[in-house]
Amino acid sequence: MADCCLPGRRKGSGKDFPPGKPPIETVRYASEASIEEDIAAVTLAVNSEQHQVLRRDLRDGGVPTDVTPTTTLADYLRQYQQLPGTKTMCREGMCGACVVNVTSVNPATGQMESRAVNSCMVPLKACHDWKIETVEGIGNRKDGYHPVQARLAQMNGTQCGYCSPGMVMSMYSLLKNGGQVTEEQVEQAMDGNLCRCTGYRPILDAFKTFKVDADEKTKKIVRDIEEASGCHGNKRGPCQSTGSACAGCPRASMTAADDDWRLPTSLQQAITDLEAMSVGGKTIRLVAGNTSTGVLDKYEAPSDGYISLLKIPELRVIKRPGEKASKWTPRWQLPGETKGAVFGAAVTLSQFIKELDHLSGTPGYRHCAQMAKHLRVVANTPVRNAATWAGNLMIKYKHRDFPSDVFLLLTAAKAKLKIVEGKNAEEMSVEMMYNISMKNKFIVSMTLPPIDENKYIFKTYKITPRAISAHAYVNAAFVIPFDTATAKITEKPTILFGGINDRFVHATNTERYLTGRSLMAEATVKGALTTLLDEVEPHPDPEHADVAYRKRLTGNLLYKAILYTLGDRVPVRLRSGGDDLTRSTMKGTQEFDTDKTLWPVNKAVPKLEAQIQTSGEAEYVDDQPALPGELYGHYVLSTMANAKIGSVDASKALAMKGVRGFYTAKDIVGKNQFISLSILIPIFSINPQLITPQQVFAEDMVRFAGQPIGLVVADTKAIARRAAALVNVEYTQVAAPVLTIRDALKTQPDGRRQSAYCPLNVVTGDTDAAMASAPRRVKGEWEMGGQYHFTMEPHTVRVIPCEDGQLNIYSATQGIKHVVDVVSDVVNIPAHKINAEVRRIGGGYGGKISNPIPIASACAVAATKLNKPVRMVLDIENMIEMCSGRFPFMITYEAGFDDTGKLLALKLHMITDNGFSMSTLGFLELQEALSAVSAIYRTDNWNVTPGTVKTNLPINTSCRAPGTINGFAAIETVMRHIAHELNMDPWDVKKVNFALGSGATPPPPLTPNDEKVFSMMIKEMFEKGDIDARKADIRTFNKANRWRKRSLALVPISYHINLAFRYPALVSIYDKDGSVAVSHGGVEMGQGINTKVAQVVAHVLGVPLEQVSVKPNNNLVNPNGVVTGGSLGSDMNCMAARLACEVLRERLMPFMAEGRPWLQVVQYASGSGVNLSAHSLQPPTTNRYSVWGLCAAEAELDVLTGEYRFNRVDLYEDAGKALSPLVDVGQVEGAFTMGMGVLLFEQLRTDPKTGRKVTNRAWNYYPPTHKDMPRDFRVKLLKNNVNDVGIFNSKATGEPASCMANACLMALHQAVAEARKAAGLKDWITINSPSTAEYTQMACETTPEMLVIT
Ligand SMILES: Cc1cc2nc3c(=O)[nH]c(=O)nc-3n(C[C@H](O)[C@H](O)[C@H](O)COP(=O)(O)OP(=O)(O)OC[C@H]3O[C@@H](n4cnc5c(N)ncnc54)[C@H](O)[C@@H]3O)c2cc1C
Ligand code: FES
Ligand code: FES
Repeated sequence: MADCCLPGRRKGSGKDFPPGKPPIETVRYASEASIEEDIAAVTLAVNSEQHQVLRRDLRDGGVPTDVTPTTTLADYLRQYQQLPGTKTMCREGMCGACVVNVTSVNPATGQMESRAVNSCMVPLKACHDWKIETVEGIGNRKDGYHPVQARLAQMNGTQCGYCSPGMVMSMYSLLKNGGQVTEEQVEQAMDGNLCRCTGYRPILDAFKTFKVDADEKTKKIVRDIEEASGCHGNKRGPCQSTGSACAGCPRASMTAADDDWRLPTSLQQAITDLEAMSVGGKTIRLVAGNTSTGVLDKYEAPSDGYISLLKIPELRVIKRPGEKASKWTPRWQLPGETKGAVFGAAVTLSQFIKELDHLSGTPGYRHCAQMAKHLRVVANTPVRNAATWAGNLMIKYKHRDFPSDVFLLLTAAKAKLKIVEGKNAEEMSVEMMYNISMKNKFIVSMTLPPIDENKYIFKTYKITPRAISAHAYVNAAFVIPFDTATAKITEKPTILFGGINDRFVHATNTERYLTGRSLMAEATVKGALTTLLDEVEPHPDPEHADVAYRKRLTGNLLYKAILYTLGDRVPVRLRSGGDDLTRSTMKGTQEFDTDKTLWPVNKAVPKLEAQIQTSGEAEYVDDQPALPGELYGHYVLSTMANAKIGSVDASKALAMKGVRGFYTAKDIVGKNQFISLSILIPIFSINPQLITPQQVFAEDMVRFAGQPIGLVVADTKAIARRAAALVNVEYTQVAAPVLTIRDALKTQPDGRRQSAYCPLNVVTGDTDAAMASAPRRVKGEWEMGGQYHFTMEPHTVRVIPCEDGQLNIYSATQGIKHVVDVVSDVVNIPAHKINAEVRRIGGGYGGKISNPIPIASACAVAATKLNKPVRMVLDIENMIEMCSGRFPFMITYEAGFDDTGKLLALKLHMITDNGFSMSTLGFLELQEALSAVSAIYRTDNWNVTPGTVKTNLPINTSCRAPGTINGFAAIETVMRHIAHELNMDPWDVKKVNFALGSGATPPPPLTPNDEKVFSMMIKEMFEKGDIDARKADIRTFNKANRWRKRSLALVPISYHINLAFRYPALVSIYDKDGSVAVSHGGVEMGQGINTKVAQVVAHVLGVPLEQVSVKPNNNLVNPNGVVTGGSLGSDMNCMAARLACEVLRERLMPFMAEGRPWLQVVQYASGSGVNLSAHSLQPPTTNRYSVWGLCAAEAELDVLTGEYRFNRVDLYEDAGKALSPLVDVGQVEGAFTMGMGVLLFEQLRTDPKTGRKVTNRAWNYYPPTHKDMPRDFRVKLLKNNVNDVGIFNSKATGEPASCMANACLMALHQAVAEARKAAGLKDWITINSPSTAEYTQMACETTPEMLVIT
């Protein structure tokens, strides 16, 4: 071990370091910590550089610091070390943006261990002695990229790029631990990383190239990784101290513990520390993985002291059964102590799982396989790498309603805990611990005794709203003493449930009931179910699934456990009821054509920014380093809807050290009111009278919970957040909030009629007469919820006052103009004095159209008041509560049809929930919904009308495929309802109703070519998708399985694109080298607009793509451009760029000559005074075209739990001649995933009393993970089609595929119908969206009487 990197040892005031490169110091102005406080030194290596956070003793004249016990590693890296590659979003271990690799010594084994962890939950002070690797450290432009980064970029695994560094570090960590990986391991390792853009497929594909049986080329990359995963010293050059190559980074020596943060290295020391520190009733926090901060204690007030458990060998020990005690085995030997496998309290869940896997091969420990399987769906890999089993038990200790899986498993396994207080130790069951005071006590270890697998069946369940990384609706564990010869339950079984209420653990009566009975008797099963359902009383909670579902699940899980226990004693068709719904690894294909004559347009190139995104070098707003004196804002949001504000008292907040101000509506010198995207009012002839303006800060009334009331500004984000919580607001609620369309209709009956605000409709023929004479009719209602955009980059803005009263604004916005216009009004300065720039944003999907406007305005108020730069990055809770989301819809319909399914008359009314006011975007939403409803099918006698209501929610906004996804869902529901009534296959009903091929004149924008495309798509889908044969297989499967149902649904779309906005572009050619720069009016948010614009510029000017770079969007080039959205941004900005390039080409034309190289042409022209910059504006057009799509989805439903998976999805989309096929495939997959989210998984729940959104965290709001995606996902861009209206014959791809996720919804609903049929229920049932496992299961209406075993 070279000593070149040994950390400096502090002497006196800490200036004394060995020669060579001094450690990096963190020295900041004191903020959260009292400046009198001593701060312990932390020594760590970050990307092979030694860092030391110095202990500052101000009494010695030291320099104050702001590193406190709650400072996280993520903050340290981003804010203090300018390593912004590591991102943060949720700060609770759910999104994975913050993943870094940690290598540290396990004090029990002395071995180095390496793992991925969430840096957002790791306290910096816990990192003492750790080696941290961040995305910048493993590869970068200077040193070369790491193969993981390169593969992800090259294989199109990044769109907005905000999730990419976290993805890279999870994969890197997996490889570092072995190098040879399987597909399963890759998917498991990525279970803690969310991506909102890509649909995961390309990310998994890129990472699976590292698998063990990969080809030779891939193997070489794996070898490179193994080399790279060692010491980085070679790459970084010789050690500055010794001049020789670095031989590795030695561990730093321990630093002394100090008052507030102790790092004991023995259990005895920890016990002594705890005793000493807790004197006087002080609250001392034991810190293991600290992941509980992500569960419940996220913003908990700091404790009086902290004891880290990570360096205590006794707590990290694992002792196998019969193994001799090691020197670290705790010394307490209790009489009659339980024998078995021993796990120290700081053993992580990952280590626990690994050991359980090992134990499961040993007689008496076979049940460990089930425990390990269950634990693999607890939290996610980076969390489990830090989280300890003991910490988990203690979360439940504090919060009894926490559905702890660890508690459930250890209780079922009859584990024994050893608990120590001072010199005393005692052994007790897990349940017993919940009856004693744990004050000043340690859990030291847990013993897992053997269970005789010949006598006991051990089975557990965890039913979740999505496949992975979610806590349970209900979890359950069964230990059934089962005599295989007699099928009797020989003694009292163990039946445990979580997620019921804070007291319920054992189903005691049911346990008693089952004792001694034969499981093969129907009466036993009936009796057990009746007893169970009598004793289970789930606690109602707006944040959780409905009481009825949770209750029903308990019965169904007991039944599942019985089927599992009985195995092949039950009839074959019941057996799959005892199985878990598993998910194989994901695979997919992508097909597209390319026309070389257009290259680089239509060429499959990686995204321009992909490489800098995967290496963390791409800059987002919050990555910009802070200016000296930069301050941080945090909102004070209303906690109640529909209330009058009585008083706002910020005195306590203002008294906090480091708080610089508190601003409300009173501080606004200009206008507090604004209308988002008012530019659309004249474009769409919207009646402005109907629109209530929004306010930057509420004045005397809060309409919705989450409405901004004020802004606290402070030296750090943490201080601002804490101070904001101290602002006291008194409210008087005017009336109970109206939170749903159904409620709103009670007082706003006009919502059921044609809206005055959106006078559009589809009215053809004589609907009333046709309806009256139709031989058959159905009527129905269907609701679809909203959607939080869940951009991985949080809402962020920086406002910087500068010379001449100007403001520089860096806003993560999709619409620069709209931000500038409103800020100008709010702070009362002319637009020309605002300099706004957007380089890129980390995802938008519509969420950054209107939401950034008030955020930038509030920040501008504070910045101008204080004349200081102010930055605001919203926490996820604030984002979900405050920000607008997708419009919820309610559809009512009546359809008249004949026996062939032909629709003779349709009355359909679509009602949107606008939030508290009508808005410009609400108008567009309805317009789009109307266009989708009538896009595919004949509209002979139709009366389709839009309606609206207002609720006490934020004004809603566009979200990917706004309105259209709802419109398609509505009409597909009608088709399915008709099919149900006629007992027909829905596809057969659709076929007789298609507008194309029916002889009717297709309505614009359809062209005769569309007819060709549509029929080609159907033909190919049926042939290649093997649709008829698969449907036949599904029928056989459904007959053979009572508790599993499959279904295959086909949904066609025709998505209309209107090129109705305007966008500019500025293209400059440099006479130095002929290279080209372009700035356009669109915002790069992952959709690949920059790549497409660059491809077009390169094509039109005839230069290589590498010679084109794209500059940030700013309000000098783009003063009046409209928001980027609606799929048309890429089309129209490419058009703008083409216009500018054509102007330039014309100017260059006189200088072009046969054989004259480009550079010469440019230089001759420049020398002759030709202007080599051209600015253009692509004006709005009346041009429209249609994007065709067809999707076939196959669903499989677990009838007893409501969980589902999609076995296969085939998706065809007509992208014309795709501008950039790799980018376009990515857009299609990503859009589809967002559609799956809103239709299936993402439920926003509100508190009916306050109106507050209670699903306001990544912990309880669930976008799809990669395991929720179709297991086999086949995407095809149809063969180069023509599209005269689109640029270079291309079509937009950003949104249409969202609507094709309706195929998943329809397949799932059909599977439910199959389950109902099997239950003898033939009537139609409506399942609203999101069709979560909860709603799906409830719709099956499985009753206890159906739970039979014969
Ligand atoms: C994103 C996410 C998802 C999750 N999903 C699930 C899930 O699905 N199911 C589930 O069951 N859990 C879940 N968890 C909970 C997770 O398992 C716990 O956060 C973790 O196990 C806590 O361990 P820790 O070491 O981080 O505890 P810490 O956060 O370090 O400590 C938690 C508490 O325990 C105390 N403590 C720690 N060790 C000891 C000890 N030895 N003796 C006495 N007190 C001690 C601490 O003082 C603190 O009060 C999830 C967590 C996250 C962040
Ligand atoms: S920011 Fe750490 S997991 Fe989301
Ligand atoms: S690329 Fe994954 S969130 Fe945007």
